[in-house]
Order: sequence, then structure tokens, then C-alpha cells
Amino acid sequence: MKAQLFRFTASLTIVCGILWDASSLIGSADAQACGRVRARREFRMLSQHERTSFVNAIRQLQRGPSPTRYDQYVSIHWNARENTHGYAQFFPWHRHFLREFEKDLQRIDPSIMIPYWDWTYDSQSPELSPIFADNFMGGNGWNGCVRTGPFGQWSPAFPRRKCLGRTFDRGDRLSAYASPEQIMIIMRSADTYHDMRVWTETPPHGIIHSSLGGDMETMYSPNDPIFWMHHAFIDKLWDNWQRLGDGRNFWRYDDENNDDSPSMLSDMLWPFEVQVGDVMDSRRLCYYYEPFLPNRAPLAMNAENGGTNSWDMAMANGPAFDWTQSMEAAWAADPAANGMLLTIPDDDRSEMVALRASKPLPEAWLRMNHQNVTQVRAIESKLRNVVDRINHMEHYVSPAALIRHDGALNVMARQWTRSPALLERLTATVGGKVEHALAGALLRQEDMATSSSAQPNASMAPTHEGPGSSAANTTTSSSGKKQPRPSSAQIISALRERVEAMTGVSLTDGTPTRTSSSGRQAAAV
Ligand SMILES: *[C@@H]1O[C@H](CO)[C@@H](O)[C@H](O)[C@H]1NC(C)=O
Ligand SMILES: *[C@@H]1O[C@H](CO)[C@@H](O)[C@H](O)[C@H]1NC(C)=O
Ligand SMILES: *[C@@H]1O[C@H](CO)[C@@H](O)[C@H](O)[C@H]1NC(C)=O
Repeated sequence: MKAQLFRFTASLTIVCGILWDASSLIGSADAQACGRVRARREFRMLSQHERTSFVNAIRQLQRGPSPTRYDQYVSIHWNARENTHGYAQFFPWHRHFLREFEKDLQRIDPSIMIPYWDWTYDSQSPELSPIFADNFMGGNGWNGCVRTGPFGQWSPAFPRRKCLGRTFDRGDRLSAYASPEQIMIIMRSADTYHDMRVWTETPPHGIIHSSLGGDMETMYSPNDPIFWMHHAFIDKLWDNWQRLGDGRNFWRYDDENNDDSPSMLSDMLWPFEVQVGDVMDSRRLCYYYEPFLPNRAPLAMNAENGGTNSWDMAMANGPAFDWTQSMEAAWAADPAANGMLLTIPDDDRSEMVALRASKPLPEAWLRMNHQNVTQVRAIESKLRNVVDRINHMEHYVSPAALIRHDGALNVMARQWTRSPALLERLTATVGGKVEHALAGALLRQEDMATSSSAQPNASMAPTHEGPGSSAANTTTSSSGKKQPRPSSAQIISALRERVEAMTGVSLTDGTPTRTSSSGRQAAAV
């Protein structure tokens, strides 16, 4: 940490030079004449063509004499860091910053909108997220340097020229991120802007930065293009919170600046000549967030428990969930008094249903971000309590549970076709929840197979064996021997056979008969 700080200081001179060059970036607020208000979508909702356009436009901003347009964004983030992390401007400053970047991408290709990364969906095994695919953001670094994907050969120039850095914090894995339920309870509990900002910024926002390592864990984090999608999701959470309960929180901005002054809508978002009040409404900035509903088919799984199926469905359906009460109780509980934590290690990948809690954020990262360490530890405790409460609910399967995740399912399904013993072990682990979960898994496999044969480019190949794996049609077993990869049809029929044998549930028409309120009908919601 000390060495890094020294490097930051040493690079200050360069930084100032670049900032002057960046003056063309620091314009005034939008003329507010949106041709139309356009959707930012989750990156999994984009076609391959749209994902490629996004990547190509970023690469174009990275080209040319140094400092490139891209370098200028990184230097602005660095220069503005003191008031934009750990203080009121965290949300509005990053909102404006992203919008400026988006407009630059649109000058290259007008069709582009920044996609967001709903990492709650990936929270239980973030390294399996297709965001790390070779044709998108690339995977983990080798010796700290990203070598796969479109940015594998790129050398960011700021603060000094080097490779794009990424170092997963658990070796080839990433520690768990915040689950949809945790985000949900944060939003529902936050009655002030201050609380919403504090609880979202740390730990949920912070763990993505610190776990990815490399550039992301520094104040020049925009060097990693994942930054934009991560912060688009953070912006979405603020947007969702603003509009909760008919916009009850819309104009709330009751927080503090780093000079202890109370935050005001007239505060300037330095170095931009824009006021906080100018960016309160995403629609005035010409965009909105389209909900991400990843688990359409297995919605049935949770139909009896209120129907929550994704972060966005939880938002849309409001206080009808029976789990909300439990969550609130967990939130209010004294963590120290709860000796019953059902703790899943955050790097465990064998548990398919129960949730993991994020590990505590590194103190160095907290200090760099002006965080009150005592306060963050208290919030981390409460969030662990929420996970604990969820794990003790008999019939609830989180939308983030590994058993409902594309990437994890693919790994699992292919293992099943090789190892019948695996399913038995899985059943022993998850007990009564497995039947629902398996039925949902099966339906999703079918959906995936259908959509990928209909639209070859519409769904992205998930990373199967984790970062660095190739998308070739063979897999390497633990013995190192190449085996043919089972086709979707083989996976599905193997799944079908095993699920039916295990549960006695008929799956021939795609509807588990023993779970009355579940099935495809419910998926239409
Ligand atoms: C940090 O947070 C704790 C607990 O919320 C509080 O008691 C303490 O005063 C805070 N410290 C600072 C320096 O703000
Ligand atoms: C699908 O991808 C292939 C290669 O990646 C490309 O040649 C083809 O044009 C794409 N099709 C569509 C419909 O985008
Ligand atoms: C996939 O498998 C087929 C035969 O099973 C083989 O001919 C082909 O080269 C393989 N493709 C790749 C990319 O490995």
C-alpha cells in the first residue's frame, strides 16, 4: 500500500498535465434535448453484435497519441477522487462521468448505450460470469496482467504505461458479492440518501473493486473497462432507490461533502461544470435502465415464496414478499447475539443453494476510499446476518443461488453427465430444496438450448472452467485427457433422467407435476 501511495504521488505531475489536456471533456450540462430516452441494458441482454460494438468503441477511444481520450477519463477519475468516494458525490459524480463517456462512445457508434453488470446474479461465483468471456472483457490476469480478450494486448498509459491489471482475490476464483436480497434490504432500509450511499458504496460496490484487483482496486480503476458496467449498475441502484414508492426518494440528497459541508443540489461536480441537481434525473440525461429478468423459466421455483426471481422482479413486486419481514428482522438483529450463522466459505463452489457472505473489505482499500472502518465492519455484520437468515429459510431459493446460474449450471450439468455420484452428493447437501432447484435448472437448460439454436449470437458462451478457459468443444478432465463436450441435448436428457429418477416428478411436458404452483405458466409473469 505504501509503495502504491508513493507511486500515486510521483505521478501527480503527469496527472496535472493530462488534466489540462482533458479540458475539452469538461463541458457544461447536457442541453437536455434528448432525441429519445434510451435503455441501458444488462450486458447479457445484448446481442453479440452489440457487445462487440461496445468493445470496439472503447478500443477506439484507447487509440492514438497519449494521452488518449480514454486516458483522460482515467485521469479525471483520479483527480476528482477526494470528494467522489466516501462522500455525497459518489452517486451523482459517477453518473455524470458515465454519461460523458457514453456520449463519447456514441460519437463513434450512435447505437451504443453502456451496458450494466448485475453482479448480484453472479454473486455466488463471480468468476463464472460471462463478463469475463474471451470475446468480451477477458478473464483473470496472468502474473497480474490481462492476456485474454480484446484488452489482452492493451497497455493503459495512466498513471504510467503498463499492462491492464487484474488479480482475482481467490486465485482462480472471486469472493462472493452482495446478493439481490442484501441489496433489497439496503434499499428498503435506507430512509436517507446518506444511508443509501453509505451502505451501497461499501461493502457492495467496494467488493467488486477489491476482489478484481489490479487496476480496479486503485483510484485509476476506469483503466479496466469493467469499471463502466460495474458503475452503471451502481447508478441503476441509485436510480431504482430514487423511484421507490412513487419517487419518494427522488430529490433526496442529505449527505456530506469531504469538507464537512452539508451536500446541496447546487454543489458542482468538479471538474465538470455541472451541478448535482442537473444529474438527479437519469431521464433528463437521456437514458433509463431496462430491468434484467434472467430467470424467466424457473420463476416457478419461488412462486410459493412470493415469486421473487431477480433483483428487478423483487423491485417491481414491492412489499408482497414474505421474506421481507425476515430480512428486516435479520437487519435489526444484533449480529453478536446471533450464534447460529450458517456460514458457507465465500470461495466454496460445491454448495448450490445456500448463499455466501462477502468477505470483509481490506482496510487499505477502505482508507483509500475515505471509509469509516468501524462503520463498514458493522454493516458487513448486518449483511452476513441477512445471508444467514436466508439460508435458514426452508423453501426459499435465492435467484442468485448457484443452482440457478447459467455458468454454474453448465459446469454442473457437464459434470453430471460424467459423474452420477455427483447428483447424489448434491442432494445430500441441499436436502429438500433440491427438487425445486433441479426442476428450475432443467427448464432453464431447455430455454438456453432453444434460444441458442434460434439465435446463434443472442446468448454469450459462459466461461465454463473459469477464467482462461477456451471455448473449444472439448473439455479436459482432471486426468488431463480430452473428452468430447456433451451437446445441449445430451445435457438435457441426462438432467431429465436424473431428476425424474430422483424426485419422481414428471418432466416430460416441461412442468414438474408435484409442485402445483410452479411450472411454465408462472413464468409469464
Ligand atoms: C466511525 O463510525 C463509528 C460507528 O458508526 C462512529 O462511532 C465514529 O464516530 C465514526 N468515526 C469517525 C471518525 O467518523
Ligand atoms: C454471428 O456471429 C458470426 C461470427 O461471430 C458472424 O459472422 C455473424 O454475422 C453473426 N450473425 C449475426 C446475426 O449477428
Ligand atoms: C469440434 O469437434 C469436431 C469433431 O467432434 C472437430 O472436427 C472440430 O475440429 C472441433 N472443433 C474445435 C474448435 O475444437
